[in-house]
Amino acid sequence: SHLRSTDIRTDNSPLQIFVKAKKKINDIFVEIEDYVQDTVGFMKSLQAERNIVTAEEAERIESYVDKVHAIRDVLKRDHMKVAFFGRTSNGKSTVINAMLRDKILPSGIGHTTNCFLQVEGSDNGESYLITEGSTEKQPVQSVGQLGHALCKEKLCESHLVRIFWPKEKCLLLRDDVVFVDSPGVDVTPNLDEWIDKHCLDADVFVLVANAESTLMVTEKNFFHKVSTKLSKPNIFILNNRWDASASEPEFFEQVRAQHQERAVDFLSRELKVYTPKDAEERVFFVSAKETLQARMQEQRGQPSHNGALAEGFQTRYFEFQDFERKFEECISKSAVKTKFEQHSQRGKHIATEIRQTLDEILDRTQKMKSEQLHVKKDVHDKLNYTEQQLMLLTQEMKDKIHHMVEDVEQRVSKALSE
Ligand code: GTP
Ligand code: MG
Repeated sequence: SHLRSTDIRTDNSPLQIFVKAKKKINDIFVEIEDYVQDTVGFMKSLQAERNIVTAEEAERIESYVDKVHAIRDVLKRDHMKVAFFGRTSNGKSTVINAMLRDKILPSGIGHTTNCFLQVEGSDNGESYLITEGSTEKQPVQSVGQLGHALCKEKLCESHLVRIFWPKEKCLLLRDDVVFVDSPGVDVTPNLDEWIDKHCLDADVFVLVANAESTLMVTEKNFFHKVSTKLSKPNIFILNNRWDASASEPEFFEQVRAQHQERAVDFLSRELKVYTPKDAEERVFFVSAKETLQARMQEQRGQPSHNGALAEGFQTRYFEFQDFERKFEECISKSAVKTKFEQHSQRGKHIATEIRQTLDEILDRTQKMKSEQLHVKKDVHDKLNYTEQQLMLLTQEMKDKIHHMVEDVEQRVSKALSE
């Protein structure tokens, strides 16, 4: 109900690729868990019959219970992570606020970000923060209070404070996007620690640059380091504060072309993460400050600008939206690929292993039966029964789990190729 009609793009949001894949794969693992449980139960009943099931086999199957459970836990916590970097005051916190459509993170004078801040969705409309090494939920009533809570903490710059904000206030949070704000890359000697701690699991990086100056060596170095640790990271470059260009229209085209060329050159020739053509699609000229203001106005039911805005506001606003669209596509696909491809491989592996074990037991049962045709009728009946059950179970495994896992793989690759 907090969302205005302009936000209703739920069904065609590219983030749905991730959301739907996550739901589907979750359902599959619920079913896999059921089958593993059934199999364990069946094996237990067979263990009473000596020689049919070995203790080792029973243990192996039983170990899958925990494995499947662990995967389900990881799955539940899977999200899409975007991390923002750039020099101090370039507007990193403001960009995140603009995307969240509210002034959530402290920004501006006296509110320099001095540790890592992670914003993620919370259920039940709660807002609170948790500092690193603690499990205590500190309630946050307002943005001002958040700034205050962050100041009073003695925080180390590479520490992480997790801010939980009601999911229903922002579609991006609801769809499992997690934002990471950072201190300026120019204020730390510990870039390696930052990368190891906060970047290795990021799906997308956004370099927030200052359009009033140019890409700096410190910013470039940071991304050089990132790209040595991650193969082909997804990087967007925002030339922020582009509203400043409005005051110098005579240089507008020239400045823009120069920034664009340098950014494309950096992404393609230096970092080698994109072709020059693809890199063109990753560079944007925006004003986070204006976008945030406009959105807060819209939220209050007022027109997005009151006439006092700088020339070219509408174009910059559209460009910000264009950035968000491309960002959503990119992060959603990247997260599905890196996160779910692995899970679906594991699910398939477990299904195959269980089937193999059951096949072996079935073989053994059939051999025993033919060798012991002459033995007592009740033993023979038991073997017959076992064989039947195994056939049912392996058939079920084959038909269901395997198909399900393959289905997910297909969906994943379909989503990726789309
Ligand atoms: P640190 O946390 O100190 O590293 O800075 P930051 O990168 O998070 O920058 P922040 O968002 O705090 O913005 C710094 C100042 O720049 C604030 O006063 C913002 O209002 C202002 N600012 C941010 N984006 C823009 C923009 O697009 N245009 C203009 N004119 N000002 C902006
Ligand atoms: Mg900041």
